[in-house]
Amino acid sequence: MSQKNLPLFFFAVFVSQATFAQTASLKATFRNDFLIGAAVNTRQIEERDTTAARLIPAQFNALTPENIMKAEVIHPGWDRYNFELADKLVDYARKQGIHVNAHNLIWHSQLPRYVQRIKDVDSFRTWFTGHISAIAARYDGKVYSWDVVNEALNEDGTMRNSIFHKMLGDDFVVEAFRLAQKAAPHTKLYYNDYNIEQPAKRAGAIALIKKIQAAGVRIDGVGIQGHWRAANVPLKDIEESIRAFSALGIEVMFTELDLGVLPNPWDNTTAEVGQTAAYNANMNPYAGGLPDSVERMQADAYASLFRLFLAYKGKVTRITFWGVDDSGSWLNDWPIRGRTNYPLLFDRHGQPKGSFFSIIAIKNTTANN
Ligand code: G3I
Repeated sequence: MSQKNLPLFFFAVFVSQATFAQTASLKATFRNDFLIGAAVNTRQIEERDTTAARLIPAQFNALTPENIMKAEVIHPGWDRYNFELADKLVDYARKQGIHVNAHNLIWHSQLPRYVQRIKDVDSFRTWFTGHISAIAARYDGKVYSWDVVNEALNEDGTMRNSIFHKMLGDDFVVEAFRLAQKAAPHTKLYYNDYNIEQPAKRAGAIALIKKIQAAGVRIDGVGIQGHWRAANVPLKDIEESIRAFSALGIEVMFTELDLGVLPNPWDNTTAEVGQTAAYNANMNPYAGGLPDSVERMQADAYASLFRLFLAYKGKVTRITFWGVDDSGSWLNDWPIRGRTNYPLLFDRHGQPKGSFFSIIAIKNTTANN
């Protein structure tokens, strides 16, 4: 832990032992700064997860569906839509007074087989237009925002060679936003990607956003996903990115935040879901519990990150964690299946961790409150 954050950690431990533990709320703490969100799965949307049913209304004022609004689930056949779970999410969020960030309209992953098999460009364009128009229109006025396009870029900032790019060319991103704008005039429209805090990919994202703007099409914000490792959060790149993206006149959000603590089978940081590795006990060191030293290291990392977010409140409009508690994190199964990871603020019993208290403490000790 850095010297700078040491007093903070002790303060966090102190408050964690006080009755504060029962009452501290992320959404209340940051109410004047930014929205605080969580990604939710089916059990949570259906209120079958009792831990989440307790935590969500108390802690969060924004929800992102982790999977159920992706094409594979919501549009399983050419003429077939499945709105059941998305409708449930919208109802649940309305009941609780929570914003919904719908995720997502266009993504190369979790794309249904029948779409992957389309061979001619005209049919593909017909699907693309129909998909965006129908879904965006149905939820206009019901959701707060859409991740219109997800992960269109390579690490070097060039366009990913996805099926959308192959079929429709570079302009598919502008076209997706144009269609979404028409179908959802009351909904904020965002571009979302991982590693776009890194300089080369960031430059690609800036070029993409400028291209949308130059076409006279609306884009309201950019989502930096934030799948980082607690031991290695790229604070300098993040700060430069907040400045560079907000200079484009759009909101900046951290949309899928989690700080994993397990070893990475590769040297690089990625969130490329196609990249996986085999299980090996050495790669799962904390199966029996999170050591205090690692919990402190993570709390320190979260504190530094939130200190930065608070310094840019007004430009940063939402921080969404990719899950409610550690038990449901995708990082338990990626890039290696069956590991025990601890990337979020609440433990497997829904109890606040050191990282939760360090974030609350940063707000209470910062000049920015
Ligand atoms: O729904 C099937 C189920 O029918 C089947 O029995 C089961 C067997 O494995 O799989 C289920 O599908 C899984 C799905 O999540 C729903 O739980 C997939 O295998 C699994 O690969 C899928 O993973 C999701 C991943 O996106 C897929 O691309 C993760 O939960 C989700 O957290 C992750 O989220 C993405 C964001 O959307 C975009 N940014 C990166 C982020 C992390 O990869």
